[in-house]
Amino acid sequence: MASYDLVIIGTGPGGYVCAIRAAQLGLKVAVVEKNPTLGGTCLNVGCMPSKALLHASELFEEAGHSFAKMGIGVSAPKLDMAAMMNFKQQGIDGNVKGVEYLMKKNKIDVLAGKGKIVGTGKLEVTGQDGKTQSVEAKSIVIATGSDIARLKGIEIDEKRIVSSTGALSLDKVPGKLIVVGAGVIGLELGSVWRRLGAQVTVVEFLDRILPGMDGEICKQFQRILEKQGFAFKLGAKVTAIDSSGKQLKVSVEAAAGGNPETLEADVVLVAIGRVPYTEGLGLKEAGVALDERGRVVIDDHFATSLKGVYAIGDVVKGPMLAHKAEDEGVAVAEIIAGKAGHVNYDVIPGVVYTTPEVSSVGKTEEDLKNAGVDYTVGKFPFTANGRSKVNQTTDGFVKILADTKTDRVLGVHIIGREAGEMIHEAAVLMEFGGSAEDLARTCHAHPTRSEAIKEAALAVGKRAIHM
Ligand code: FAD
Ligand code: NAI
Repeated sequence: MASYDLVIIGTGPGGYVCAIRAAQLGLKVAVVEKNPTLGGTCLNVGCMPSKALLHASELFEEAGHSFAKMGIGVSAPKLDMAAMMNFKQQGIDGNVKGVEYLMKKNKIDVLAGKGKIVGTGKLEVTGQDGKTQSVEAKSIVIATGSDIARLKGIEIDEKRIVSSTGALSLDKVPGKLIVVGAGVIGLELGSVWRRLGAQVTVVEFLDRILPGMDGEICKQFQRILEKQGFAFKLGAKVTAIDSSGKQLKVSVEAAAGGNPETLEADVVLVAIGRVPYTEGLGLKEAGVALDERGRVVIDDHFATSLKGVYAIGDVVKGPMLAHKAEDEGVAVAEIIAGKAGHVNYDVIPGVVYTTPEVSSVGKTEEDLKNAGVDYTVGKFPFTANGRSKVNQTTDGFVKILADTKTDRVLGVHIIGREAGEMIHEAAVLMEFGGSAEDLARTCHAHPTRSEAIKEAALAVGKRAIHM
């Protein structure tokens, strides 16, 4: 029987990163993966393919709408959907092969098949051919990720009624796209198809978009998306979809009930969240506890209720983000190797990769109000940032929330081009417990969009220079 120090079930960003860190620390490691390719949701049907399409569709829109004002004359861009999907696939293949290479380089065994925990230190792996092999491991990490959440009574066929997976592979641009859920997936993939020509309506249960992100940022973001052509139906829910005709007939009513209407659509994207994936893992029988939302219960050291079994990533509590899963992978590998692994959940950046991008780290204004913290706000708009002005990309602003007494930065929120790249100086500052004054006194290269962060930090002390 094959025997390892550590076996990890799942090779998403949580699992494969955990495997590499454990191998670096000298453990004998194997990963188990049921899919034909490594990399999990993120590399195959999540972060990476969506970013490829966001990039390609953004350039398509720019070529059609922004080049002329810069004096670049091109004829109207033509969409070759097959080539765009090929561009996406090349990106996926490159990254997936990269993970295969990293497994080999770090001498990590890849066990192809579906993993099942059959007791402390014992697993079974069943391959595509139905053959099962038994494996022993001193430690096991569950990194099985998440799956799409479904709407009751609505069947996802991945052709006309799609999840994010189908929305990443449509063979033509839908005339009318209805997105259910104004979360990250809905707004990112809605953006892709709107840029390529779809008329996009987003139906959201709550009275705001992007729940959990800073309210003021999201209000401005919604206005910008509306200017781009998005239509929003907030405080509304989809109750049924009739797919018998050529067009889908989508029944929508107020979240609280009443006010029914029927909307027509070519495609409906259901993007109402994701749920932990534990199917077939044998957790109940093995004695691994789940919480009321089906997530694997862990303690502060990622240990589950079964000795020697740990869990990380989307399958446990916390934000469903690839970088959160990766950092947990590193931390749990270090703990298993006898070191002091740790994740700081107060400093996990979040980015929505639309145009403009939205990024945030730390507390929102709503969080601070609810916690009764006395805070000071420093804001700086990109309309006053020189680089943004010359590029004519002035949508958005930077917002810094600092503790009024200590000046410690508690949260940073940005809406604007490249906001996803800009957020990390705030994350580093916050990791070191830095103040707005620290940020304000740090020299920033000119002309950069990041100067808006320095100015927002100056604005906390009411001394922004360019405003
Ligand atoms: P996963 O990546 O889900 O990997 C789990 C793996 O486990 C899978 O490969 C699965 O096949 C395997 N597995 C499951 N059960 C078994 C079993 N019993 N035996 C063997 N193998 C098994 N996050 C970001 O941070 N940034 C983004 O831009 C972003 N974009 C996204 C876009 C979309 C469309 C989607 C759907 C998600 C996106 N996410 C993004 C979220 C991100 O993909 C997840 O947070 C991340 O993949 C979670 O990593 P994980 O390792 O926990 O699980
Ligand atoms: P989400 O949780 O971000 O958003 C779901 C939205 O659907 C919420 O606004 C919710 O109020 C709404 N909703 C729920 N039920 C509804 C209903 N019946 N009718 C109408 N609206 C309803 O989930 P989403 O967008 O599906 O993404 C799943 C996960 O993937 C997220 O946790 C996210 O972290 C991750 N992800 C991250 C990305 C990034 O970091 N850029 C990109 C894409 C996904």
